[in-house]
This record gives sequence, structure tokens and C-alpha cells, in this order.
Amino acid sequence: MLVGGQGTRLRPLTLSAPKPLLPTAGVPFLSHQLARAAECGITHVVLATAYRADMFTECFGDGAEFGLSIDYMYESTPLGTGGGIRNAASRLRGGPDDPIVVLNGDILSGHDLPAQVDVHRKADAAVTLHLVEVDDPARYGCVPTGPSGRVTAFLEKTPNPVTNRINAGCYVFRRSVIDRIPDGRAVSVERETFPSLIAAGAVVMGYAESAYWLDVGTPEAFVRGSCDLVLGRMPSPAVPGECGDALLLDGASVAPGASVSGGTVAGPGSVVGEGAVVDGSVLFEAATIEAGAVVRGSIIGRGAAVGAGAALDGAVIGDGAFIGPGNELTKGIRIWPGVRLAPTSIRFSSDI
Ligand code: GDD
Ligand code: MG
Repeated sequence: MLVGGQGTRLRPLTLSAPKPLLPTAGVPFLSHQLARAAECGITHVVLATAYRADMFTECFGDGAEFGLSIDYMYESTPLGTGGGIRNAASRLRGGPDDPIVVLNGDILSGHDLPAQVDVHRKADAAVTLHLVEVDDPARYGCVPTGPSGRVTAFLEKTPNPVTNRINAGCYVFRRSVIDRIPDGRAVSVERETFPSLIAAGAVVMGYAESAYWLDVGTPEAFVRGSCDLVLGRMPSPAVPGECGDALLLDGASVAPGASVSGGTVAGPGSVVGEGAVVDGSVLFEAATIEAGAVVRGSIIGRGAAVGAGAALDGAVIGDGAFIGPGNELTKGIRIWPGVRLAPTSIRFSSDI
């Protein structure tokens, strides 16, 4: 699993923890991937780490909690997606022709991984890519295929996508193909490995499936992913409780007359005051929403507080920040950790 990115699009949340460890539906994001991997029959996982590497080891240890054996590889200088996979190769088990599953560490996917492995085996492919269709392919790796499902090109973040079918960030590699990725330097599988395999005539297959799929790399997508897990739209064995309109974790308290809905998760020790409305949001540990505040589609960091009557829509509030009563924060605003906004009636619309 590739978990070495800096998660810049999720700042300031990723200043204190890497993206795959952000609490998502009550557990570190990667727990959902690890639990699904175990469910699909995977027994051994290598985490390719770079940014905040020690936090992964602390969080997942030897993997026994998931019925997995987890190894950790570290890149002191980030090696990119291909370099990260290559660096992890020394820990991989199995022979040169065995299938190795590689996952981007920020994907929620309900697709049938064993069926993807099957396609890979039947085609005796070098690599088999999970493909999904999206409305905005220019933000992803655009992947046209031929009639037999064979990949004909790989166009990473092209301004002129030729199809809506994109790389979903889950690959099955023939082990020997990983061993041939250049060692000791940065490599991008998307910009280097895949295009050169295709140019060399290697069999690169697409496995298209339209099950639930989401890259949680932006604040909007992160909130949506957490809510979908809580609502049960994306099934995950790692959700710590019953799916439903809201998930209240240990010690979370919701005052009478408050409403918590839309797949909101209220983290351990979080408090929602009287008459407050929290809809489709993520409250980290010990976050506080004071009486009458309205919070929609937002992420409230650890120990952060939203004052009485404040209104947030699509906001990201860093750990320990305080939004004074009466503030209105509109879509896309991010408040850095520890910042205190005085009580006001001003509408904010840019980063602070
Ligand atoms: N170990 C390691 N080292 N991992 C890395 C590095 C690195 O240097 N750089 C990135 N990663 C990890 C990230 O942590 C993430 O899990 C994964 O690689 C992909 O990086 P993102 O930064 O999330 O890429 P993206 O979302 O813009 O694009 C990728 O995912 C799309 C699907 O969501 C590409 O693979 C696209 O082709 C794809 O469509
Ligand atoms: Mg991503």
C-alpha cells in the first residue's frame, strides 16, 4: 500500500497526521483498506511510507488486529509511486510470477478485488489496473482500453482526456515487473512505468467495475467518504458501530434538541450543544459544537470548537482552533490549527 504522500490538499489536517491516518468514520482511514484487504483473502501487507512514517507503525503494529501481517518500508526521500513500490519489493513474499496487489492509500473502493486478480491471471498480464468512470477525468490518470480490455495508453492528469475511464489506484502486478522498476531513484508508475510497459508491448489489462469508488484526497471527498461509510453506502468491516444517520463514538454527547445527521461522525469526547445542527460532517476527538451552531459538510479538528450560533458550510477547522460565536464560514475555507476567530457577524470567504 502506498502511503508516503504528504496529503497537501488536506492541509491543515495533514500537518499533524498523514492522510491515511485521519479519523474516517471513527477509525484511521487506512483501517478500512486493511480490513477489506483481509476480507479479500490478503494475508501480508507492506506499507510504503515516507511522510510521518513512525505514526503508521504506532497505529497498526504487526497488523494482528486485522488478521494481517504488516511490514513497513521507509523512504527518507520520497521515491514517488513507482519508487515506493520498488523500495517495498524486498519485503514482498512469493515468486516472480505471483500477483502482487498495490493500492493507493487514499481510496475507498467496493470493487471485487479477487475478480480483478482473476482477469490478471487469465490474461497473464504484466499489470492489471482497476478502472472506474468519473465526470472529471482530467484530475486522474486517463486510461483508454481496446475491445479485449487491454490498456492502450496511460495519460496522467492530461488536460485533454480521451475517455472518462480512469485509473482507480488499485493494481495487480506480476512480481517480476516490480523487480524491474529502477531502484534507488524517484519513479512515477503513472508517468513512467505504465507508459513504458505499454510502449514495449507488455500486456497491461484494465478491470472496469462500477462499484462504490472514491479518492478521499480533498476535504470535500474526505467528508463524503466518511459519511458514506457511516451511512453504509460504502460497506466497511472497520466501521466501529452500526451504520446509520450518525455515528457517536465513546463519550460523544449530543444535547437534547440538537440534530446530528447525514452520516456525521462525532469523535470520542466530542460535544454537540443544544439546538445545534451537524449534518454530513466529521467531528474529530473532543471537538465542540456550541448551542445553536450549524455545521454542514465540514471537518472539525481535534479539540477545536465552534461557538454558539456560528454557521459553517464546507469548512475545514484545524486542531484546537476556535470559531467565535456568530461567524459564518463559507465553502472551502480552512482555519489553521490554534487560530482563534473573535465573535463576529462577518462572513469569511478565504483562508485564515
Ligand atoms: N511511498 C510513497 N512514496 N507513496 C507515495 C509517494 C511517495 O513518494 N507519493 C505519493 N504516494 C502515495 C500517496 O500517499 C497516495 O496514497 C498514492 O501514492 C497516490 O498519490 P496521490 O497524491 O493521492 O495521487 P492522485 O490522487 O493525485 O493520483 C493518483 O490516484 C488517482 C486515483 O485516485 C494516480 O494514481 C492517478 O492516476 C489516479 O487516477
Ligand atoms: Mg489520491
